[in-house]
Amino acid sequence: MASNKKTPSTDGAGSILSSMSGPSDSNAPHSLGADNDVTRALLQKTAASQQLAAAMAVNPKEDGQYGEAARRPAEGVHVATGEALATASTAGETTASAKTGAGQPALGENARNASLDGARSDDSGCVLTTNQGVPVGDNQNSLKAGLRGPTLMEDFILREKLTHFDHERIPERVVHARGSAAHGYFECYKEQSKLTRAALFAKAGKRTPVFVRFSTVAGERGSTDTARDVRGFAVKFYTDEGNWDLVGNNIPVFFIQDAMKFPDLIHAVKPEPHNGMPQAASAHDTFWDFASLSPEITHMLMWAMSDRAIPRSYRMMQGFGVHTFRLVNAKGQSVFCKFHWSPMAGTHSLVWDEAVKISGADSDFHRRDLWEAIECGAYPEYELAFQVFTEAQAEAFPFDVLDPTKLIPEELVPLVPVGKMVLNRNPDNFFAETEQVAFCTAHIVPGIDFSNDPLLQGRIHSYVDTQITRLGGANFHEIPINAPLAPLHNNQRDGIHRQAINRGRVAYEPNSLAGGCPFQAGAKGFNSFPAAAEGDNVRGKPEKFAEHYGQARLFWISQTPIEQDHIVRAFRFELSKVQTVVIRQRIVAMLRNVDETLAQDLADALGLALPPVMPRASLQPLPAYAPSPALSLFFRPGKTGIHTLRVAILVGPGSDGAQVRNIYAALLSDGAVPRLVGSQLGRVDTSGGAPLDVEISLEAGPSVLFDAVVVPDGQGAVQQLGDDANALDFLRLQYRHCKPLLAIGSGKGLLDKAGVPAALPDGKPDPAVIVAPSSDVVKAVAAFKKALAAHRAFVRETDPPRV
Ligand code: HEM
Repeated sequence: MASNKKTPSTDGAGSILSSMSGPSDSNAPHSLGADNDVTRALLQKTAASQQLAAAMAVNPKEDGQYGEAARRPAEGVHVATGEALATASTAGETTASAKTGAGQPALGENARNASLDGARSDDSGCVLTTNQGVPVGDNQNSLKAGLRGPTLMEDFILREKLTHFDHERIPERVVHARGSAAHGYFECYKEQSKLTRAALFAKAGKRTPVFVRFSTVAGERGSTDTARDVRGFAVKFYTDEGNWDLVGNNIPVFFIQDAMKFPDLIHAVKPEPHNGMPQAASAHDTFWDFASLSPEITHMLMWAMSDRAIPRSYRMMQGFGVHTFRLVNAKGQSVFCKFHWSPMAGTHSLVWDEAVKISGADSDFHRRDLWEAIECGAYPEYELAFQVFTEAQAEAFPFDVLDPTKLIPEELVPLVPVGKMVLNRNPDNFFAETEQVAFCTAHIVPGIDFSNDPLLQGRIHSYVDTQITRLGGANFHEIPINAPLAPLHNNQRDGIHRQAINRGRVAYEPNSLAGGCPFQAGAKGFNSFPAAAEGDNVRGKPEKFAEHYGQARLFWISQTPIEQDHIVRAFRFELSKVQTVVIRQRIVAMLRNVDETLAQDLADALGLALPPVMPRASLQPLPAYAPSPALSLFFRPGKTGIHTLRVAILVGPGSDGAQVRNIYAALLSDGAVPRLVGSQLGRVDTSGGAPLDVEISLEAGPSVLFDAVVVPDGQGAVQQLGDDANALDFLRLQYRHCKPLLAIGSGKGLLDKAGVPAALPDGKPDPAVIVAPSSDVVKAVAAFKKALAAHRAFVRETDPPRV
């Protein structure tokens, strides 16, 4: 139906004024009858839309989907429109209001890919309102029929408030429920484009924002921080090409080899289902029953029973991606990689007796430590290293790199530092950020890819699946903390709590009505590494997976004698809580495959006869690993000295005020956090200088919350504190937990009264019990700082403790 009109035509106008059907003539009418802004926009929109669609006669991607061509996806063909109305949802989109705004986004923009500023809310100077923005006149009283009458149904303000409150809680994470998080950045040391095209490693000095959550695994959301447990170490990198989540732990290996066993592992370690006990503890029958029947767990048990499972601080533990991943460069070449985080503050742990007591004194110990360090500007830092190896190297290892119960000794494949992470901002809101953040192993970016590790493969499914329930629907990626900074454009729509207001009528692909947009990125986008698959479909594991003890032994022989002692004691503690004797026997039988002395010591400690060795699944001899010093906690003493370490200065009436102030200032100047601790809060007169204000009482700030103690000179104070058993307990526990003690002048009397010896069990001087006259404070404080920088003097430790 060709059009050949001289006067303004209204042919087909009715179809433009309708939203279905119309003529096959693609010439638009010149007028819709009335000529105004609305009709002109409608005409313009229709014409532009038709033109855009006409630019794409066929689906240009059709051919590329098959055969060899499919291996190299091309960028999607797309057509730019010069007319914004062509893709608008409505011709009236620029009808502005305070609510709609101008209505039209800058083309290609998703207003949600922005900093968190757009989501922050502050109430300063604001009136209280309902969720509908209605100012609330009275927030103290519900609406009643008469002052003594019943509450009225119509009190919508009360009902809204109660309804929202009733639904404040969401399900906690099924594992890792207890955690704390912080914002920061990752800074790349050096371009890594030879290895990976991942945007965050593109340039030296490049900074990528991160959000990091540390956690325990077994305990519930309100459980204690210092439980013996693996710590989660999950990092969300907001990269230029989307979010990469490195969802790791503070231990480089895992309990099991296949995702199929994860629910069993977690059911075994969580509180027992019949009585809901114990909370945040593996020391019970069901965990050890499962463990004793799963020899693949042995290596992980060695780590979990070591002091790695009771870190001093989230700032003082390593992090590991655990699985083997792939790095892929722009040419599509790939190498295998393991990811390692190392803390600048070094790796330091609590001792078990201390961890237990901290649970009572401050169950938020790690949360508080992280919060305080960041709040005070002592930003936690961690270095990221790649451990890179090729498939050919992997073949030659005595273990399978797809087996997550195995690590690659640093001596075999060195760590290459690639950047550092700095945590420099606490969250604004615990729920909105720390609780609602959703990490997922499936969140990877171009340049990083999975390996076939069967545990990792299962994890790729599990996280989003659980988060759909935990965060209530499919749109949790839109929660501000989860939203990427990178542009997000796709045809996913709707669902519970949808936030984005998607413009236009196109939510499918291929399309011509939106000019083919959003279009696939082709080679520029994420494309899975084309790893060849081989073999039949089978439920099974490769032969090398069957060897469970070689690396457990490697870990054992790489520990210092102190660390070995602690491992034996941890096994002893856990297994003595177990009630089923055969479970204890099975674990000892299992450990005979690791080390006979370890097994014998444990059997003795448990009052067991040494059981026969547990038969091994693999008949191959155990690989003979040389000790790996890097596996000892003492290998990474850290670079931050006494920074952030907490020192108690015990004071009372008659303390030498001037001396206290000098010591206080000397500690503070090196970044330590001194506090005056006394029998009670209040002001105490001093024997020299102005009175002192006690900052925290012995009751509120017991020994386990401090890294070291100072007892200054002052006869009166020593007398008063000597009559306070809390002060004596304080010193005894400082000593028992191997912390540095400094006593000046008469302060020594308090150590004597507490029964703290100045000599080691073998008669040699204790390097971390420093006693000095008042004339020698400067030298004594220097020695004390040195001992404090070393954290603990384990050389004084005895089993059982002598003090
Ligand atoms: C098949 C094995 C595994 C499965 C099925 C699994 C599943 C889960 C699930 C369902 C969550 C809760 C997620 C949420 O609600 O947001 C979670 C959290 C977590 N998982 Fe795993 N997990 C597995 C193994 C591992 C391993 C090997 C690691 C360490 C390398 C790990 C580290 C974490 C961490 C750190 C979190 C907490 C993330 C956060 O802070 O929110 N998981 N896991």
